[in-house]
Amino acid sequence: MAIICRENLFSIHTKNSTYQMKVEMGFLLHTYYGPYVGDMDMSYLARRIDRGFSGNPDGAPDRRFSLDTQLLEYSAYGTGDYRNDCLRVEYADGSQVTDLKYVSYEVKEGKYALEGLPAMYQEDAKAETLEITLRDEYKNLEVILYYGVFEDLDIITRACRIVNHGKDPVHLLRVYSMCLDFYGKDMDFIHFYGRHAMERVMERSPLQHGMQGVGSRRGYSSHQHNPFVILCKHDATEDRGFCYGASFMYSGNFAAEAEVSQADDTRLTMGIHDAQFCFEVQPGDSFIAPEVLLTFSGEGLGQLSRNYHRAIRYHVCRGKYKTARRPILVNNWEATYFDFDTEKLLDIARDAKEMGIEMLVMDDGWFGKREDDNSGLGDWFVNEKKLVGGLKKLVDGVNEIGLKFGIWFEPEMISEDSDLYRAHPDWALTIPGRSFTRSRNQLVLDFSREDVRQYVLDRMCEILESANIEYVKWDANRHLSDVWSAQLPAGRQGEVFHRYILGLYDFLEKITKRFPDVLFEGCSGGGGRFDAGMMYYHPQIWCSDDTDAVERLQIQYGTSFAYPVSTVGSHVSVCPNHQTGRNVSLKTRGVVAMSGTFGYELDITKMNDSEKREVKEQIETFKQYYGLIQNGDYYRLTDDGRASNVVAWEFVSGDKKEALVNAVILKTMANPIFQTIYMKGLKPDAFYEIEGREGKFTGAALMSAGYPLPVAMDDYESVQLHVYEKTEN
Ligand code: DGJ
Repeated sequence: MAIICRENLFSIHTKNSTYQMKVEMGFLLHTYYGPYVGDMDMSYLARRIDRGFSGNPDGAPDRRFSLDTQLLEYSAYGTGDYRNDCLRVEYADGSQVTDLKYVSYEVKEGKYALEGLPAMYQEDAKAETLEITLRDEYKNLEVILYYGVFEDLDIITRACRIVNHGKDPVHLLRVYSMCLDFYGKDMDFIHFYGRHAMERVMERSPLQHGMQGVGSRRGYSSHQHNPFVILCKHDATEDRGFCYGASFMYSGNFAAEAEVSQADDTRLTMGIHDAQFCFEVQPGDSFIAPEVLLTFSGEGLGQLSRNYHRAIRYHVCRGKYKTARRPILVNNWEATYFDFDTEKLLDIARDAKEMGIEMLVMDDGWFGKREDDNSGLGDWFVNEKKLVGGLKKLVDGVNEIGLKFGIWFEPEMISEDSDLYRAHPDWALTIPGRSFTRSRNQLVLDFSREDVRQYVLDRMCEILESANIEYVKWDANRHLSDVWSAQLPAGRQGEVFHRYILGLYDFLEKITKRFPDVLFEGCSGGGGRFDAGMMYYHPQIWCSDDTDAVERLQIQYGTSFAYPVSTVGSHVSVCPNHQTGRNVSLKTRGVVAMSGTFGYELDITKMNDSEKREVKEQIETFKQYYGLIQNGDYYRLTDDGRASNVVAWEFVSGDKKEALVNAVILKTMANPIFQTIYMKGLKPDAFYEIEGREGKFTGAALMSAGYPLPVAMDDYESVQLHVYEKTEN
């Protein structure tokens, strides 16, 4: 049993962790989250003193009990806990005080689902649900806390529902999905910041008193901050030490904050950002706060990542392409940008076929008046001047050559210079009578509106049904501003940001159900919406608009902390690279792109014969190692190149009989220093060989003594080592 409830004690056990809560004086206190401790009451850790200016709730036995100093399971505003709260509600009388007391619990087989929101699902894993109900008896407001327990995956999910059982509407001013309180502050806060074309850069710093946190108020989870954070002990490394991860399964505004309180305790909170958030809940109605995926690893950051990789790969991603091999594609964006026609695409397809590429993706520019990025969005009608004879003719042509066909859409956007905008200016998020902000010279459609979504859905379906289209790239190239919806009254404009995301999820659910055999790749100017929420609909997401293999090392390294390789859209592009001007060998570009979904994004018709041969070999190599890369355990062997001259990572098969080690040596050196890599995850006592190299090595030797890398004669040289167990015959 993963969930054990006795008297007022609720314990959740996964394979390697224990999570516990206890009801005292009617309040739900948090007692513990960390390594598995067996079935015992952890409240012995709680110390109580009369702390000045930390008041006592009604019914407290003495002045030593204060909500301000106890570890709480879900903190509400207004009753003496002055730390960062999860819940703020404005009631009809204008008061904002909520006093949550324990009411009941229920344990259910299987994993709960959340209406209208992505959530981890059970499939073939063992999973249970714990529901705990809290209530403010003055206002009859109920909070149901949900815990999904994946025992073997070491994952505990959290979400909650706020139910208004009162007589009047209430306004939710903040609903975070969880708080997680810890004794002490001796931990580091790790988060993943960035910008367009440089997403998810890892940053680690010791916790300080007060608030530290990241978030997004851009409407999307964003390039700037990823909705994923880690708290870990100061001494935690890749392979050792305590780490806690929190991944928010939501694609809009978010806040992930760590607060160190007056008494050196720590609170981690995660939820929808409260900027311009005010959600009205009518009597009898409820509001659901999206899911957080929690994991604890006692074996460092590497294991924490592997916990997430398994959870997301097999219990978040869905559909045929969750496990089916994804086609190796060539995308025409960096090959042609907007300047293409049917003949050009067919030329690319012919060369692609010869090299072993399996799908052609036609990117931006095939519809409406779209010669550049200033116009046409919303007009999802084929531009027959470019695609002479229509889309079907092109798709049939590509299919005849022997390739699948994929297409690009940007469904959430609208250009002012489009027929759609001329017909429906109020469909864009703008405020009547005010000037508004353009970004990439485009506006955002009001996806909180059902009618707007239905129109775009119909247009997309018509295109997808008009030809044999087997892949969709779903792009979104600006953030939200001027947020106001023509369909909501003045008092409910605080709902638009969240309703937009609910609308997006509704749309995605409908379209992915309607086209179950289509592979959907998410994208938001690269990795601007690279979150577990989107992965529920899109099993892969274009990782970054930066295709430079060297910069990708850092981006893919940061991405690997929370997200499996199977979700990372990664392509080989041309040199000099279009974003950085850098030259990197085709080999290294291949090695880096292979640690993702793999494809090409350059004008392959301009490649010379030797490059074409090399691409063919790369594709063979990728196919050979596909299972190992996509299903193997992922190990980071170095940092992202900020501290070392080698960036290395490794895939190890589940039975540890095989590994693929990848290394890029950043700078060549005069009078060089020797570089060694230390493998991980092998069987210490087994003997391994390395393809194409002399010798036989124990796993222990390869892991502890390491394996020497060759001396690099050029910048950014790469090495790929196939390591396999030597079985005596
Ligand atoms: C941004 C994407 O990330 C690119 O790959 C490309 O699809 C462009 N948009 C097209 O406008």
